[in-house]
Amino acid sequence: MNVLFFSPGFPAEMPYFARGLKTQGARVFGIGDQPVESLPDVAREALDHYIPVRLMWQEEAVLAAIEPIHQRYPFQRILCLWEPGMLLAARLRERLGVPGLNHAQTVPFRDKEVMKKVLAEAGIRVPRNQRAASVDAIWQASRDIGFPLVVKPIAGAGSADTYRVDSADHLAEIIPKLNHVPEVSVEEFIDGKEYTYDTICANGRILYDNVAWYRPNPIIGRSEEWISPQTLTLRDMDQPHIQAGIQLGQAVLKALNYQTGFTHMEWFYSTSGEAVFGEIGARPPGGRSVELMNYGCDIDVFSGWAEAEIKGSFSQKIERKYNAAVVFKRAQGQGRIVDIRGLDDIRREMGSHIVCENLLPLGAPRRNWKQTLISDGYLIVRHPDLQRCMDMADRIGSHLQLYAR
Ligand SMILES: Nc1ncnc2c1ncn2[C@@H]1O[C@H](COP(=O)(O)OP(=O)(O)OP(=O)(O)O)[C@@H](O)[C@H]1O
Ligand SMILES: [Mg+2]
Repeated sequence: MNVLFFSPGFPAEMPYFARGLKTQGARVFGIGDQPVESLPDVAREALDHYIPVRLMWQEEAVLAAIEPIHQRYPFQRILCLWEPGMLLAARLRERLGVPGLNHAQTVPFRDKEVMKKVLAEAGIRVPRNQRAASVDAIWQASRDIGFPLVVKPIAGAGSADTYRVDSADHLAEIIPKLNHVPEVSVEEFIDGKEYTYDTICANGRILYDNVAWYRPNPIIGRSEEWISPQTLTLRDMDQPHIQAGIQLGQAVLKALNYQTGFTHMEWFYSTSGEAVFGEIGARPPGGRSVELMNYGCDIDVFSGWAEAEIKGSFSQKIERKYNAAVVFKRAQGQGRIVDIRGLDDIRREMGSHIVCENLLPLGAPRRNWKQTLISDGYLIVRHPDLQRCMDMADRIGSHLQLYAR
């Protein structure tokens, strides 16, 4: 099978998905705006052919680059797992007659208002919301919805420009910060815990699923630098409140008539005991969440996704053995990493429960924690017992410290 795969070198997980496609027997054509020399080795080794393009998101330019190859090796799949390319991939499928999500089917995964409208019409509990393209419209929405509320871009990612607003005075302070955002979604604030529901589907059937818990909720973890945000993949998906989210997620997939590929939904379990929809993408989660899925079951979910896409099956045995948590660290101070403290204690205490260490080395410049959840690096721990896993993750949050100068 000939597969066109978008941006095999970036973001960080993409090379592993490319490798998954290769492992499953596809002939893999990568397309991206990186020169071939700067592709990570894992990506380069997975590709049969690479098509470098200068203007990655320009439909005509991309079409011109791929058409001659499509004539010779007709693409049976055009796959994009990166949010900015979802609509482009859909258009290319339509223009080349390749199966998969078309443009109209992709919009409800991209436009947060259309998403909630379609789902509300299907009877799914979504936060009350309105779209607003002017300051007046934001004020009107705030009166209709009431405080506290959330204001966020219609097509946002990474919690950028997302604010919790508690009062009219607070809203007046926030509005000038949104000047550069053409259109926002104003939503009822849902107070509660926040989880994901992630699936790999083929032909409308769920072949693999996963629930992860964000600690704390991303809107908090991404606004306070001192926090070490965690994502924790749950071993036990049978707890009643988790089941409520899974049922919500399954209803969402049905309402969107989702067929084949990876999905990543976020949802809340509210303090009033309700599962409430947050958002959904027709792609895997980032932030090392797919690695957590691998560590949770000792499987290769990258390859599992590729198998579902290519063969419509998921043949690896899914046995949930561990809770797995990634803890992202942010250094204190600016500049380069000069000291890492507490790592020896953590290693001694946790031993083989630490399955991955990926901290910036001494001398490396700090990353921008606002732009990347990965921040200055991370550790992944796992344990069959949830409380033990949480305790280890919290200890890494508080005891492991990086310093920059
Ligand atoms: N209605 C809401 N009630 C409570 N919290 C909310 C609401 N909407 C968004 N949030 C908070 O803001 C965060 C970011 O919002 P959302 O997930 O919609 O945007 P995003 O920028 O696409 O996120 P990301 O790319 O980080 O997944 C959520 O994870 C959640 O913590
Ligand atoms: Mg989100």
